[in-house]
Amino acid sequence: MYTLEVFRAVSSPQCSINAGDMYHSFADRGLFSAMHSLQCVLQVQRSLRWGPMASVSWLSLRMCMAHSSLSSTTCPNPERQEAGARKDFSSRLATGPTLQHFLRSASAPQEKLSSEVEDPPPYLTMDELLGRQRKVYLETYGCQMNVNDTEIAWSILQKSGYLRTSNLQEADVILLVTCSIREKAEQTIWNRLHQLKALKTRRLRSQVPLRIGILGCMAERLKEEILNREKMVDVLAGPDAYRDLPRLLAVAESGQQAANVLLSLDETYADVMPVQTSPSATSAFVSIMRGCDNMCTYCIVPFTRGRERSRPVASILEEVRKLSEQGLKEVTLLGQNVNSFRDNSEVQFNNAVSTNLSRGFTTNYKTKQGGLRFAHLLDQVSRVDPEMRIRFTSPHPKDFPDEVLQLIHERDNICKQIHLPAQSGSSRVLEAMRRGYSREAYVELVHHIREFIPGVSLSSDFIAGFCGETEEDHIQTVSLLREVQYNMGFLFAYSMRQKTRAYHRLKDDVPEEVKLRRLEELITVFREEATKANQTSVGCTQLVLVEGLSKRSATDLCGRNDGNLKVIFPDAEMEDVNNPGLRVRAQPGDYVLVQITSASSQTLKGHVLCRTTLKDSSTYC
Ligand code: 5AD
Ligand code: SF4
Repeated sequence: MYTLEVFRAVSSPQCSINAGDMYHSFADRGLFSAMHSLQCVLQVQRSLRWGPMASVSWLSLRMCMAHSSLSSTTCPNPERQEAGARKDFSSRLATGPTLQHFLRSASAPQEKLSSEVEDPPPYLTMDELLGRQRKVYLETYGCQMNVNDTEIAWSILQKSGYLRTSNLQEADVILLVTCSIREKAEQTIWNRLHQLKALKTRRLRSQVPLRIGILGCMAERLKEEILNREKMVDVLAGPDAYRDLPRLLAVAESGQQAANVLLSLDETYADVMPVQTSPSATSAFVSIMRGCDNMCTYCIVPFTRGRERSRPVASILEEVRKLSEQGLKEVTLLGQNVNSFRDNSEVQFNNAVSTNLSRGFTTNYKTKQGGLRFAHLLDQVSRVDPEMRIRFTSPHPKDFPDEVLQLIHERDNICKQIHLPAQSGSSRVLEAMRRGYSREAYVELVHHIREFIPGVSLSSDFIAGFCGETEEDHIQTVSLLREVQYNMGFLFAYSMRQKTRAYHRLKDDVPEEVKLRRLEELITVFREEATKANQTSVGCTQLVLVEGLSKRSATDLCGRNDGNLKVIFPDAEMEDVNNPGLRVRAQPGDYVLVQITSASSQTLKGHVLCRTTLKDSSTYC
């Protein structure tokens, strides 16, 4: 029923493309994959944020491109095309997908068990969908969300019969999981594509052709521009389209380019268990929500990753339990705005309780209500395994109600570490960024957090040289760095991104050299202050989760303290507090007590005292 409504909407006179014409034209070209794309468009209308028009025009554009790659160089005249189409339309229609196929697919539940093998779309055989043991090489760029997305994409492909390789030379399929947050991140991908082009052209005729795919934010942001600019890109999949990868790759096998960049309102990959890439790892990331509704004026994320949506609590807990059974000792709850978490998946979660924002903070969107909130999730996750450390990233400062702070304070296994992205120390710039708080409100929150959680470790993100930033604004940021004295920091020069509000309404008027000079100054001040902050740990005994050998020295081990700072210490024999008299050496995944002897802006050094458990070692300093 819904599908038909959408079909009517797509066929409406206001619409630039008529669904009937699309059907004729696709049947005529034998482009039955396009029919599936149409079906995808129809399916996703429900969940599209920016309305159906964008996706339909994207689809029509792609069809022109697919056509030109098949025959002539220009987009076909629709009238001539339709006349030709009618001639043998009936016979071709008989072999194409039926309306029943659309209806069946459109009404199928969105979240299927990933182990289920679906019926193939009528234009693809099961064999084509099942990977044919092709070897996939995955390369990840950007943030931790992309690392997690890589694991999700791989989980989906593995279930479809693909093999994974870590050797680029033997790959049949190369997939780049990309980042768009700054210009430089994209430039790195373009450069990489040029290198891969050589690999593709060098491929022997006796081998299957090499297929190259762009996944994630860059696919979403640039869409057809990538296919136009780099003809050797075969597959584009946006962050919400990874389930479609087996089909996209199967289409690419036939020599066509294939793309799905549709954003969803509800895709969280809740049922896709990511494949942990490093089996010896002591910690894992667990995705709890995707997307962002904040619309900070500089940021491309809401456009590339779509609307904010949360994964159901039950499925998060299931994944955390599994990780605990596998012996992992740390999980980091992951999302663009983790603490804005809101599980609305069950009707009974939807009450009228409104959201408590941090004092002095506002949102750019209408206040949301109901759902299971972050405090509930954190509480539940921290109860799974008292020996498992819990962290979360990246939060937004607006969503730190006292319930969350109280939990962090009282639970031994929730790390006393909070990322509190400030972006700027100037209220004027913060307003231009539409961050929803002033410098004063931010500083008040910092004090409030420190009162609640003494010894909490704080980190932040800052942008140097945002539109209109004056020298006075910059000095305000320097002074915020001095005032808060963060333990960790991530500092960036502003990079204008198309589509953002800043791109449309503000002027990127700080010269590049000034941005870089200010960035350098911020880095210097951050380091000075972080060194001072970290030096307060010298002489203290801290609980460290051992990760393995130090990269710099084979005789040293490396781990992380509660604040997520790296701690280096000599690999020495020590006592095990639970087995008095037993002498042991630390292994990855062990908790050890380390006496801190020196500190820099990024690392602590010390010597190991004993092996212990998280429960037995409440805060030592
Ligand atoms: N330019 C520079 N830095 C940016 N960030 C986000 N968008 C931009 C941009 N256009 C930074 C913010 C954010 C972090 C993930 O990246 O500081 O918190
Ligand atoms: Fe980007 Fe702001 Fe959303 Fe963070 S909160 S992802 S900076 S829009």
